[in-house]
Amino acid sequence: MKMQRLSAAGLALATLVFGVAASWPRQEQQPQRSPVFGVELPKGYRDWQVISVAHEAGKNNDIRAILGNDIAMKAFRKNIRPFPDGAIIVRVAWQYESSPRNDSVFPAPQSFVAGAPTNVQVSVKDSKRYAATGGWGYGQFEKGVADQNVALTQSCFACHIKLDAIDKQADLVFTNYSE
Ligand code: HEC
Repeated sequence: MKMQRLSAAGLALATLVFGVAASWPRQEQQPQRSPVFGVELPKGYRDWQVISVAHEAGKNNDIRAILGNDIAMKAFRKNIRPFPDGAIIVRVAWQYESSPRNDSVFPAPQSFVAGAPTNVQVSVKDSKRYAATGGWGYGQFEKGVADQNVALTQSCFACHIKLDAIDKQADLVFTNYSE
């Protein structure tokens, strides 16, 4: 009886040790950083403040929330441009769906809501590290994992830089803040 309990404990310990050892490289394999820029999904971003919201029609057909860390929020509120180093802006998006459930309490269909999440895009300001791309580093994440598509990651700056031609003050950020 004693031996059995001992070997059960031994087995549990071995399982734990092997489990940790086995999951270590698996975690390493999950790409946590975007290619090109090495941008990570910032910890706690889901609790950040709302800068604004947007809806994209067409192929994306999504609804999005744009969130900012404290440095970004301060810059938005005080209208400071360019954004200071350390500013991070996160764009969260979901499929844009009509809601028959919500509509059932209305006299006519009118409710559109966030469906399944699509992806999360991140812009990080670091004027030295990302000097070649206007001071911004970019990354896209699906289910918390950094998308390793290099062309996709390069498309971020290639498109955001176009804003410079029409609005130089914007510092490559499209979203506006208002109370
Ligand atoms: C073809 C143009 C285009 C590409 C490519 C693009 N963006 Fe944007 N991005 C926009 C526009 C326009 C907005 C604002 C409108 C909107 O959200 O629909 C925006 C908004 C954002 C925002 C919210 C802050 C802001 O600048 O307004 C973030 C963050 C962002 N993009 C990151 C990225 C990242 C990361 C990538 C690459 C993985 C990327 N974008 C690719 C055009 C683009």
